[in-house]
Amino acid sequence: MEVVTVFGGSGFLGRYVVRQLASQGLFIRVIVRNPNEALFLRVYGKVGQIQLIGGDIKEELKIQEYVKGSSCVINCVATFFETRSQSFNVLHVSAAKNLAKVAKKEGVSQFIHISSLGASTESTSQLQRSKGAGEEAVLECFPNANIVRPSLIFGIEDTFFNRFAKLSSISPFIPVVGPETKFQPVYVDDVAKVISMLVETGQKKKYLELGGDETYTFRELIKLLLAEIKRKRLILKIPFSIARVMAATNDFFRLILGDVVPAFLTLAQVKSLEKDNVVGRDSDKFSDFKIAPKKLKIVLPTIVSRFNKS
Ligand SMILES: NC(=O)c1ccc[n+]([C@@H]2O[C@H](COP(=O)([O-])OP(=O)(O)OC[C@H]3O[C@@H](n4cnc5c(N)ncnc54)[C@H](OP(=O)(O)O)[C@@H]3O)[C@@H](O)[C@H]2O)c1
Repeated sequence: MEVVTVFGGSGFLGRYVVRQLASQGLFIRVIVRNPNEALFLRVYGKVGQIQLIGGDIKEELKIQEYVKGSSCVINCVATFFETRSQSFNVLHVSAAKNLAKVAKKEGVSQFIHISSLGASTESTSQLQRSKGAGEEAVLECFPNANIVRPSLIFGIEDTFFNRFAKLSSISPFIPVVGPETKFQPVYVDDVAKVISMLVETGQKKKYLELGGDETYTFRELIKLLLAEIKRKRLILKIPFSIARVMAATNDFFRLILGDVVPAFLTLAQVKSLEKDNVVGRDSDKFSDFKIAPKKLKIVLPTIVSRFNKS
């Protein structure tokens, strides 16, 4: 039986990837830091089809054990803010590179690396720079790897809409950095479907930029959300200059005091928001997979129904 090993399979996107792969009848090995918190994944497959293994992508010496015998390895691991134990560079570059290197050495035939739209070694955002360097490091070790770059992903468990919906239930205003920045929100299960199709067809060496059919500005996304939950809130534009100072202060206190200080706004986030997050012209897209991406307006009511005022 073919084995596909997924790192980050308990995450927001990872769980949909595992479910799609399970529906193909594949045997899936999921490497998670805390298997007890990932037990829910088991119901996506038949008895014994989904194996949970406790492990950390940073454990260089154990990666070989985790990927041994796999025909495909999928890397969905990432962090959106740095912690003392997980820097962007360690997780997105060194760990990703080691995983790709070991996978190649172990004779894995397919490697799928999840990156993000806007990833570039030239980016001013440290997050996007590390994602760009991660792509390059993966391709250096596994030249035929698939690099998947989604725009903002939405779905029941997403952070974006859930976070702003929660905020709107306690605050009379919604602070927005970069209200005119454009996104092409993409449904989580559509991204997972593309990844499972890559596995099914064994396609290699592809850059895929995945965005939905519709482009929205940040402000439009918040307006849509507020209309959906029937709450009137002031959308407060935070100029980039002020946001940078706020984020640098937040980063500073996290550096000094550690992870007890929540990452409410980071410099990496602010700098990511300075550029539009839309699909470019030169890469493969949804249409190449004959998938019509699900529209945000169809899924949003389910995502935020518990915040609906009426
Ligand atoms: N969400 C979006 O809107 C979005 C947009 C564009 C691109 N992406 C990309 O899509 C991918 C998945 O993102 P996501 O939204 O699903 O993120 P997520 O929900 O935060 O999931 C990240 C996963 O990585 C795991 N992980 C973190 N550190 C680990 C480590 N040291 N060893 C092993 N596993 C570790 C987490 O498991 P634990 O439970 O152990 O923490 C979790 O399963 C990422 O590459 C991200 O950059 C996401």
